[in-house]
Amino acid sequence: RREWLGACAGAALLPAARAAMPQPEITLRFSHVVAEETPKGLAANRFKVLLEQRSSGRIGVQVFPNAQLYGDSDEMRALQLGAVDLVAPSLSKFGRIGLPEFELFDLPFLFDDLSAVRRITLGPLGQRLLQGLERQGLVGLGYFDNGFKQMSANRPLLEPKDFVGLRMRVQASQVIAAQMRALGARPVTLAFSETRQALASGVVDGTENPVSNFWTQGMHQVQSDVSLTNHGYLGYAVVTNQRLWQSLARTERGLINQALQEALGFANQIADTQNDKALAALRQTSSVHIHRPTPEQRQRLRQAVQPVQQQLASRLGQRCIKDLQAALN
Ligand code: LMR
Repeated sequence: RREWLGACAGAALLPAARAAMPQPEITLRFSHVVAEETPKGLAANRFKVLLEQRSSGRIGVQVFPNAQLYGDSDEMRALQLGAVDLVAPSLSKFGRIGLPEFELFDLPFLFDDLSAVRRITLGPLGQRLLQGLERQGLVGLGYFDNGFKQMSANRPLLEPKDFVGLRMRVQASQVIAAQMRALGARPVTLAFSETRQALASGVVDGTENPVSNFWTQGMHQVQSDVSLTNHGYLGYAVVTNQRLWQSLARTERGLINQALQEALGFANQIADTQNDKALAALRQTSSVHIHRPTPEQRQRLRQAVQPVQQQLASRLGQRCIKDLQAALN
Protein backbone atom coordinates (compact mmCIF):
# COMPACT_ATOMS: atom_id res chain seq x y z
CA ARG A 1 0.00 0.00 0.00
CA ARG A 2 1.59 3.20 -1.12
CA GLU A 3 -0.25 6.42 -0.83
CA TRP A 4 0.40 10.06 -0.43
CA LEU A 5 -1.43 11.42 2.56
CA GLY A 6 -0.30 15.03 2.52
CA ALA A 7 2.82 16.73 3.75
CA CYS A 8 4.44 14.90 6.62
CA ALA A 9 4.42 16.86 9.85
CA GLY A 10 8.10 17.67 9.97
CA ALA A 11 8.19 19.46 13.30
CA ALA A 12 10.54 16.92 14.81
CA LEU A 13 13.01 16.93 11.92
CA LEU A 14 16.05 19.13 11.70
CA PRO A 15 15.39 22.03 9.29
CA ALA A 16 18.31 20.98 7.07
CA ALA A 17 17.08 17.40 6.94
CA ARG A 18 13.56 18.57 6.20
CA ALA A 19 14.70 20.68 3.28
CA ALA A 20 16.52 17.70 1.81
CA MET A 21 13.69 15.20 2.39
CA PRO A 22 11.68 14.08 -0.62
CA GLN A 23 7.96 13.59 -0.26
CA PRO A 24 7.33 10.23 1.40
CA GLU A 25 6.32 7.30 -0.78
CA ILE A 26 4.67 5.64 2.18
CA THR A 27 3.05 7.40 5.11
CA LEU A 28 2.28 5.43 8.27
CA ARG A 29 -0.50 6.78 10.47
CA PHE A 30 0.20 6.11 14.16
CA SER A 31 -2.78 6.71 16.41
CA HIS A 32 -2.70 6.68 20.22
CA VAL A 33 -4.81 7.88 23.13
CA VAL A 34 -2.36 9.61 25.49
CA ALA A 35 -0.60 12.98 25.60
CA GLU A 36 2.69 13.62 23.82
CA GLU A 37 4.61 14.14 27.08
CA THR A 38 4.15 10.53 28.18
CA PRO A 39 6.32 7.46 27.55
CA LYS A 40 4.04 6.40 24.69
CA GLY A 41 3.72 9.87 23.18
CA LEU A 42 7.49 10.36 23.26
CA ALA A 43 8.12 6.89 21.82
CA ALA A 44 5.76 7.54 18.89
CA ASN A 45 7.44 10.87 18.14
CA ARG A 46 10.92 9.35 18.40
CA PHE A 47 9.88 6.57 16.01
CA LYS A 48 8.73 9.17 13.49
CA VAL A 49 12.02 11.07 13.63
CA LEU A 50 14.15 7.92 13.40
CA LEU A 51 12.20 6.34 10.56
CA GLU A 52 12.01 9.49 8.46
CA GLN A 53 15.75 10.05 8.87
CA ARG A 54 16.76 6.43 8.28
CA SER A 55 14.56 6.11 5.20
CA SER A 56 15.81 9.49 3.91
CA GLY A 57 12.22 10.69 3.96
CA ARG A 58 10.83 7.82 1.87
CA ILE A 59 8.72 6.53 4.76
CA GLY A 60 6.81 9.21 6.63
CA VAL A 61 4.95 8.89 9.92
CA GLN A 62 1.95 10.92 11.04
CA VAL A 63 1.35 10.68 14.77
CA PHE A 64 -2.16 11.37 16.10
CA PRO A 65 -2.01 11.63 19.92
CA ASN A 66 -4.75 12.18 22.52
CA ALA A 67 -7.39 9.97 20.84
CA GLN A 68 -7.65 12.67 18.16
CA LEU A 69 -8.50 10.05 15.54
CA TYR A 70 -9.64 6.98 17.48
CA GLY A 71 -10.21 6.17 21.13
CA ASP A 72 -9.93 2.94 23.12
CA SER A 73 -13.08 1.41 21.77
CA ASP A 74 -12.30 1.82 18.07
CA GLU A 75 -8.52 2.11 17.53
CA MET A 76 -8.01 -1.64 17.18
CA ARG A 77 -10.92 -1.94 14.74
CA ALA A 78 -9.58 1.05 12.78
CA LEU A 79 -6.26 -0.77 12.53
CA GLN A 80 -7.91 -3.98 11.33
CA LEU A 81 -9.79 -2.02 8.68
CA GLY A 82 -6.67 -0.18 7.56
CA ALA A 83 -7.89 3.27 8.64
CA VAL A 84 -4.64 3.64 10.64
CA ASP A 85 -1.37 1.74 10.36
CA LEU A 86 0.04 1.56 13.88
CA VAL A 87 -1.48 1.66 17.34
CA ALA A 88 0.04 0.96 20.75
CA PRO A 89 -2.77 0.01 23.11
CA SER A 90 -2.05 -0.89 26.69
CA LEU A 91 -1.76 -4.66 27.20
CA SER A 92 -5.01 -4.45 29.16
CA LYS A 93 -6.95 -3.71 25.97
CA PHE A 94 -6.27 -6.90 23.99
CA GLY A 95 -8.63 -9.10 26.02
CA ARG A 96 -11.64 -7.63 24.36
CA ILE A 97 -10.42 -8.46 20.87
CA GLY A 98 -10.35 -12.13 21.83
CA LEU A 99 -6.84 -12.33 23.29
CA PRO A 100 -7.50 -12.59 27.05
CA GLU A 101 -4.02 -13.96 27.85
CA PHE A 102 -2.67 -10.41 27.53
CA GLU A 103 -4.55 -9.60 30.73
CA LEU A 104 -1.91 -11.53 32.67
CA PHE A 105 0.06 -8.27 32.77
CA ASP A 106 -2.79 -6.75 34.81
CA LEU A 107 -2.55 -9.27 37.67
CA PRO A 108 -2.03 -7.11 40.76
CA PHE A 109 1.28 -7.37 42.63
CA LEU A 110 2.55 -9.87 40.05
CA PHE A 111 5.75 -8.03 39.12
CA ASP A 112 8.19 -6.78 41.75
CA ASP A 113 10.11 -4.76 39.19
CA LEU A 114 10.64 -4.24 35.47
CA SER A 115 13.17 -7.06 35.21
CA ALA A 116 10.35 -9.45 36.15
CA VAL A 117 8.24 -7.90 33.35
CA ARG A 118 11.11 -8.56 30.92
CA ARG A 119 11.15 -12.23 31.85
CA ILE A 120 7.69 -12.37 30.30
CA THR A 121 7.97 -9.95 27.39
CA LEU A 122 11.35 -11.25 26.18
CA GLY A 123 10.56 -14.89 26.92
CA PRO A 124 8.49 -17.52 25.08
CA LEU A 125 5.20 -16.47 26.70
CA GLY A 126 5.54 -12.85 25.58
CA GLN A 127 6.48 -13.91 22.07
CA ARG A 128 3.57 -16.37 21.89
CA LEU A 129 1.17 -13.57 22.84
CA LEU A 130 2.49 -11.36 20.05
CA GLN A 131 2.12 -14.23 17.57
CA GLY A 132 -1.50 -14.65 18.71
CA LEU A 133 -2.25 -11.22 17.23
CA GLU A 134 -2.09 -12.84 13.80
CA ARG A 135 -5.44 -14.50 14.52
CA GLN A 136 -6.89 -10.98 14.47
CA GLY A 137 -5.16 -9.93 11.25
CA LEU A 138 -2.56 -7.99 13.22
CA VAL A 139 1.21 -8.14 13.69
CA GLY A 140 2.79 -7.46 17.09
CA LEU A 141 6.03 -5.52 16.70
CA GLY A 142 7.12 -5.20 20.33
CA TYR A 143 6.42 -4.30 23.93
CA PHE A 144 7.32 -1.24 25.94
CA ASP A 145 6.73 0.19 29.40
CA ASN A 146 4.84 2.95 30.99
CA GLY A 147 5.47 1.71 34.52
CA PHE A 148 3.65 0.98 37.74
CA LYS A 149 0.15 2.19 38.50
CA GLN A 150 -1.02 4.31 41.41
CA MET A 151 -4.52 4.86 42.79
CA SER A 152 -6.45 8.13 42.90
CA ALA A 153 -9.72 9.31 44.44
CA ASN A 154 -10.94 12.11 46.66
CA ARG A 155 -9.53 10.27 49.64
CA PRO A 156 -6.41 8.23 50.36
CA LEU A 157 -6.58 4.63 49.11
CA LEU A 158 -4.11 2.84 51.30
CA GLU A 159 -5.93 -0.26 52.42
CA PRO A 160 -8.87 -2.36 51.29
CA LYS A 161 -11.41 -0.62 53.54
CA ASP A 162 -10.68 2.69 51.77
CA PHE A 163 -12.02 1.28 48.49
CA VAL A 164 -15.35 0.03 49.76
CA GLY A 165 -18.26 1.40 47.73
CA LEU A 166 -16.12 3.53 45.37
CA ARG A 167 -16.78 3.48 41.63
CA MET A 168 -13.38 3.10 40.06
CA ARG A 169 -12.74 3.72 36.35
CA VAL A 170 -10.88 0.81 34.80
CA GLN A 171 -9.62 -0.13 31.38
CA ALA A 172 -11.51 -2.89 29.56
CA SER A 173 -9.72 -5.71 31.38
CA GLN A 174 -11.52 -8.37 33.37
CA VAL A 175 -8.45 -8.85 35.53
CA ILE A 176 -8.45 -5.18 36.53
CA ALA A 177 -12.21 -5.31 37.14
CA ALA A 178 -11.68 -8.34 39.42
CA GLN A 179 -8.89 -6.50 41.23
CA MET A 180 -11.22 -3.57 41.99
CA ARG A 181 -13.99 -5.92 43.17
CA ALA A 182 -11.54 -7.76 45.41
CA LEU A 183 -10.76 -4.41 47.03
CA GLY A 184 -14.44 -3.71 47.62
CA ALA A 185 -14.85 -1.14 44.81
CA ARG A 186 -17.16 -1.17 41.77
CA PRO A 187 -15.25 -1.21 38.48
CA VAL A 188 -16.60 1.03 35.71
CA THR A 189 -15.05 0.49 32.27
CA LEU A 190 -14.51 3.76 30.42
CA ALA A 191 -12.33 4.92 27.56
CA PHE A 192 -9.20 6.74 28.62
CA SER A 193 -10.27 9.92 26.82
CA GLU A 194 -13.49 10.02 28.86
CA THR A 195 -11.89 9.43 32.24
CA ARG A 196 -11.05 12.96 33.31
CA GLN A 197 -14.57 14.17 32.56
CA ALA A 198 -16.10 11.18 34.36
CA LEU A 199 -13.99 11.98 37.42
CA ALA A 200 -14.90 15.67 37.22
CA SER A 201 -18.63 15.02 37.02
CA GLY A 202 -18.65 12.31 39.68
CA VAL A 203 -19.67 9.50 37.29
CA VAL A 204 -16.73 7.68 38.86
CA ASP A 205 -14.94 8.35 42.15
CA GLY A 206 -11.43 7.27 41.35
CA THR A 207 -9.07 5.49 39.01
CA GLU A 208 -5.60 3.98 38.58
CA ASN A 209 -2.74 4.84 36.22
CA PRO A 210 0.95 5.67 36.27
CA VAL A 211 1.50 9.28 37.34
CA SER A 212 2.52 10.46 33.85
CA ASN A 213 -1.00 9.67 32.63
CA PHE A 214 -2.68 11.39 35.61
CA TRP A 215 -0.60 14.48 35.21
CA THR A 216 -0.82 14.95 31.46
CA GLN A 217 -4.61 14.46 31.51
CA GLY A 218 -5.04 16.98 34.33
CA MET A 219 -6.72 14.33 36.48
CA HIS A 220 -5.07 15.91 39.52
CA GLN A 221 -7.39 18.88 38.98
CA VAL A 222 -10.37 16.66 39.65
CA GLN A 223 -8.95 14.27 42.28
CA SER A 224 -7.65 15.36 45.66
CA ASP A 225 -5.58 12.31 46.60
CA VAL A 226 -3.04 10.10 44.87
CA SER A 227 -1.85 6.99 46.70
CA LEU A 228 1.46 5.50 45.61
CA THR A 229 0.44 1.85 45.73
CA ASN A 230 2.57 0.59 42.80
CA HIS A 231 0.11 -2.28 42.68
CA GLY A 232 0.26 -3.21 39.00
CA TYR A 233 2.10 -2.77 35.74
CA LEU A 234 1.05 -0.77 32.67
CA GLY A 235 2.76 -1.59 29.39
CA TYR A 236 1.97 -1.50 25.71
CA ALA A 237 2.30 -3.51 22.51
CA VAL A 238 2.83 -1.83 19.16
CA VAL A 239 0.70 -3.46 16.50
CA THR A 240 0.24 -3.06 12.79
CA ASN A 241 -2.05 -4.51 10.18
CA GLN A 242 -0.97 -7.83 8.62
CA ARG A 243 -2.05 -6.85 5.09
CA LEU A 244 -0.06 -3.66 5.27
CA TRP A 245 2.95 -5.44 6.75
CA GLN A 246 2.96 -8.08 4.04
CA SER A 247 2.61 -5.45 1.32
CA LEU A 248 5.87 -3.79 2.36
CA ALA A 249 9.23 -4.72 0.88
CA ARG A 250 11.64 -6.57 3.17
CA THR A 251 13.91 -3.52 3.34
CA GLU A 252 11.00 -1.31 4.34
CA ARG A 253 9.97 -3.73 7.08
CA GLY A 254 13.58 -3.79 8.22
CA LEU A 255 13.77 0.00 8.43
CA ILE A 256 10.46 0.24 10.28
CA ASN A 257 11.45 -2.48 12.71
CA GLN A 258 14.83 -0.99 13.42
CA ALA A 259 13.45 2.49 14.06
CA LEU A 260 10.67 1.08 16.19
CA GLN A 261 12.91 -1.13 18.35
CA GLU A 262 15.14 1.85 18.98
CA ALA A 263 12.16 4.05 19.87
CA LEU A 264 10.85 1.37 22.25
CA GLY A 265 14.26 1.08 23.91
CA PHE A 266 14.23 4.84 24.31
CA ALA A 267 10.71 4.70 25.83
CA ASN A 268 11.84 2.07 28.33
CA GLN A 269 14.75 4.30 29.34
CA ILE A 270 12.68 7.43 29.86
CA ALA A 271 9.46 5.91 31.22
CA ASP A 272 10.60 6.02 34.86
CA THR A 273 11.92 9.54 34.48
CA GLN A 274 8.64 10.70 32.94
CA ASN A 275 6.72 9.25 35.87
CA ASP A 276 9.20 10.77 38.36
CA LYS A 277 8.90 14.15 36.67
CA ALA A 278 5.13 13.96 36.75
CA LEU A 279 5.24 13.02 40.44
CA ALA A 280 7.54 15.96 41.18
CA ALA A 281 5.09 18.26 39.35
CA LEU A 282 2.20 16.74 41.27
CA ARG A 283 4.01 17.40 44.55
CA GLN A 284 4.16 21.09 43.61
CA THR A 285 0.38 21.16 43.25
CA SER A 286 -1.06 22.17 46.59
CA SER A 287 -4.53 20.81 45.80
CA VAL A 288 -3.32 17.20 45.63
CA HIS A 289 -2.29 15.12 48.60
CA ILE A 290 0.16 12.33 47.94
CA HIS A 291 0.23 9.29 50.18
CA ARG A 292 2.48 6.29 50.41
CA PRO A 293 1.13 3.13 52.04
CA THR A 294 3.17 1.63 54.85
CA PRO A 295 4.58 -1.85 54.17
CA GLU A 296 1.76 -3.27 56.36
CA GLN A 297 -0.93 -1.41 54.42
CA ARG A 298 0.54 -2.55 51.12
CA GLN A 299 0.61 -6.09 52.41
CA ARG A 300 -3.12 -5.85 53.22
CA LEU A 301 -3.81 -4.64 49.67
CA ARG A 302 -1.78 -7.52 48.32
CA GLN A 303 -3.66 -10.03 50.44
CA ALA A 304 -7.04 -8.65 49.40
CA VAL A 305 -6.31 -9.12 45.70
CA GLN A 306 -4.68 -12.52 46.04
CA PRO A 307 -7.83 -14.42 44.91
CA VAL A 308 -7.82 -12.60 41.55
CA GLN A 309 -5.35 -14.97 39.88
CA GLN A 310 -7.44 -17.98 40.87
CA GLN A 311 -10.70 -16.28 39.87
CA LEU A 312 -9.36 -15.41 36.43
CA ALA A 313 -7.47 -18.66 35.84
CA SER A 314 -10.00 -19.96 33.35
CA ARG A 315 -9.97 -16.66 31.41
CA LEU A 316 -6.19 -16.60 31.21
CA GLY A 317 -5.98 -20.35 30.59
CA GLN A 318 -3.98 -23.08 32.32
CA ARG A 319 -1.14 -22.85 29.82
CA CYS A 320 -0.72 -19.14 30.45
CA ILE A 321 -0.69 -19.55 34.25
CA LYS A 322 1.80 -22.42 33.99
CA ASP A 323 4.11 -20.44 31.68
CA LEU A 324 3.79 -17.40 33.91
CA GLN A 325 4.81 -19.35 36.98
CA ALA A 326 7.70 -20.97 35.15
CA ALA A 327 8.96 -17.55 33.99
CA LEU A 328 8.64 -15.79 37.33
CA ASN A 329 9.72 -18.51 39.78
C1 LMR B 1 -5.69 3.86 30.23
O1 LMR B 1 -6.58 3.63 29.41
O2 LMR B 1 -5.90 4.01 31.43
C2 LMR B 1 -4.24 3.96 29.84
O3 LMR B 1 -3.72 2.70 29.81
C3 LMR B 1 -4.03 4.70 28.57
C4 LMR B 1 -2.68 4.44 27.99
O4 LMR B 1 -2.65 4.02 26.85
O5 LMR B 1 -1.67 4.69 28.67
